[in-house]
Amino acid sequence: MTLILGIETSCDETAAAVVERGPDGALHLRANVIASQIEVHRQYGGVFPEVASRMHVEAIAPVVAEALSRAAVEPERLDAIAVTHGPGLAGSLLVGVNYAKGLCLSWDKPLVGVNHLEGHVYSLWLTEYAPRIRFPVLCLVTSGGHSELILMSDHGQYRLLGSTLDDAAGEAFDKVGRLLGLPYPGGPSIQRAAQDGDPARYPFTRAALGPEHPYDFSFSGLKTAVMRAVQPPVTGRRTRGDESMSPDQRRPDVNIADVAAGFQSAAVDMLVDTTARAAADHNVTAVLLAGGVSANALLRETMRSRLALPVYYPPLALCTDNAAMIAAAGCFLFARGVRHGLALDVRPMYPLASAGDEDTAFHPSRDL
Ligand code: KG4
Ligand code: ZN
Repeated sequence: MTLILGIETSCDETAAAVVERGPDGALHLRANVIASQIEVHRQYGGVFPEVASRMHVEAIAPVVAEALSRAAVEPERLDAIAVTHGPGLAGSLLVGVNYAKGLCLSWDKPLVGVNHLEGHVYSLWLTEYAPRIRFPVLCLVTSGGHSELILMSDHGQYRLLGSTLDDAAGEAFDKVGRLLGLPYPGGPSIQRAAQDGDPARYPFTRAALGPEHPYDFSFSGLKTAVMRAVQPPVTGRRTRGDESMSPDQRRPDVNIADVAAGFQSAAVDMLVDTTARAAADHNVTAVLLAGGVSANALLRETMRSRLALPVYYPPLALCTDNAAMIAAAGCFLFARGVRHGLALDVRPMYPLASAGDEDTAFHPSRDL
């Protein structure tokens, strides 16, 4: 049996979890603690990096202590500590990495650095689908910072097939949420607003990127189309890049629910079309959805109804950032002998690479 403590502080959640790997290789989640900063960042309409790192400093010790206590695990029994070291906000990552290093030093435990995207992928190994996963699989990781289509041919073996050319999928939800005057984060707010809306009232165009970008995404055109639909015709000067509007800056006839439904339906179609094409071209056995946007009910349903393959996704609590997924990935890395010394550094830009090929698997221009 292996016991791993996972720590995650790459963005605005301070999280710690304990995962056990049994002799049969199955993972068991013993504790999963998250201190969310969402309420604080809501007033800024997005994550405020300096505030995030300061809040991580305050939360990290009690969150780790709570995870160990809920798991009823004494530190001596841990086999290793796994921590997210990128990609993410530098100041936030530093808090988790340095805290993990301190624990490793004082408890004399090995340190395992985990790529945040690899963590999202491994959230699936904490679900009932785990025993059914057969490689190769296609992973769609969509969150506030990522929209990656990854071909996974084995544990630790990844090939990036495509990513976004502009906004990440979750970022598009967040920006459109702001345009519609909905609370941050936009994803859940748009899903809620769209429930009462008619997606056909605003048939936004789905971006077609052409043969050079068979598996890439682009959401900025859709975001602009939503902006055009809700803003009154331009009469004077408008500040570029300012996506937040007060209600009196919106067209009076705009129906927020219909726009939310139209946007959600277009964004989901774009994600599903590209994923379906990549799955067919690469002969995969299943599609795994991970990351915050995989919490979206329409994405889950549409993916399942349009693909002939099994589509697996994590429970809601494991879609958005958490440390359970970091501990899960840490279990597999630890089993493969991965150990990072105390020289482990944060990597705010950190492409997901295949094991043993950390710096060369992807072209730097596709860095996250
Ligand atoms: O994985 P995550 O917690 O953090 C990052 O690594 O970025 O993902 C957060 C993102 C946010 O952009 C949020 O709007 C989006 O996931 N999200 C959703 C939903 N729930 C969260 N997007 C669409 N529909 C949802 N239900
Ligand atoms: Zn994430």
